Amino acid sequence: MSEPDALQSKRIGVIVGSLRRESFSRKMANVLISLAPAPLLPEILEIGELPMYNQDLEETPPAAWLDFRSRLRGLDGVIFVTPEYNRSVPAVLKNAIDVGSRPSGKNSWDRIPGAVVSVSPGGLSAFGANHHLRQSLVFLNVPTMAQPEAYIGGVAKMFDDHGNLINDSTRDFLKKFMAAFAEWVVRFPRDL
Ligand SMILES: Cc1cc2nc3c(=O)[nH]c(=O)nc-3n(C[C@H](O)[C@H](O)[C@H](O)COP(=O)(O)O)c2cc1C
Repeated sequence: MSEPDALQSKRIGVIVGSLRRESFSRKMANVLISLAPAPLLPEILEIGELPMYNQDLEETPPAAWLDFRSRLRGLDGVIFVTPEYNRSVPAVLKNAIDVGSRPSGKNSWDRIPGAVVSVSPGGLSAFGANHHLRQSLVFLNVPTMAQPEAYIGGVAKMFDDHGNLINDSTRDFLKKFMAAFAEWVVRFPRDL
């Protein structure tokens, strides 16, 4: 990569709200990564090993918390791909949100341009999780892309045995979504 290209590339953390081995959300995240246009450089940012948030631990924070916070501070953008648990976000995702938001006054999410993709086998497309997550992102000062919204329902029938997306209209939509997010990241650069 030439030097000017390297300067323009945008490090995008993709956070998956499910730890399940065959997670549809993770499959969807991999599809989004494969469809990312330049200058986006997306990579899954793992959250499964983060110890559960406990404010008492802030005196000597777990190494995994410090590493996660430092990775967040290095991002130019973040995409959340999440299922819905009981009409909200899964605990593993909320834990990552909380870990990144602390200690008080040192919110590592601050000003990272973001986007939300909610995923469900059902027809309501995890609308509840999508909007509960957006509620936290407002408070955390993550400028979150408004349009296009991404509510992906019926995911159980969207992948083949190798995790390839077999639904062309969804692929077209996701491509447009990633193109819009590339514009969003450039429009709201974190370093301004
Ligand atoms: C604890 C729990 C709660 C759930 N609640 C909802 C829900 O509120 N809405 C929904 O659409 N699906 C719900 N589901 C079903 C999930 O959407 C489904 O298990 C999905 O495959 C999880 O995402 P994943 O494939 O990325 O792991 C729930 C599943 C679990 C395990």
